[in-house]
Amino acid sequence: MPMVVYVLNDGSECRVDVPEGATVMRGAIQNNIKGIDAECGGSCSCATCHVYVGESHLEMLPEPDPAESAMLTGVAAERKSNSRLSCQITMVAALDGLVVRIPERQT
Ligand code: FES
Repeated sequence: MPMVVYVLNDGSECRVDVPEGATVMRGAIQNNIKGIDAECGGSCSCATCHVYVGESHLEMLPEPDPAESAMLTGVAAERKSNSRLSCQITMVAALDGLVVRIPERQT
């Protein structure tokens, strides 16, 4: 099962095994990762699952679709070149070791 490293606001890391086919957001919610609120439940309509993706895996992800791109324009924290919505990142074996940093604030 691929592993995701969630980097929290205090700099600590939580390493979580997330099943293939599940989203990075779902892995966070099911493991009580602080800072990913996911208010819309993963329907790409709240942007409270915003994360900064580690550079080593960024190019492995498909480009954001138009809906995700639109939501990223309204994130609460600074939008960066590696900003993504974690509900739109589906885990696959190749993403093992994916690092996602949680922004300082989501609302
Ligand atoms: S959970 Fe709402 S946009 Fe990702």
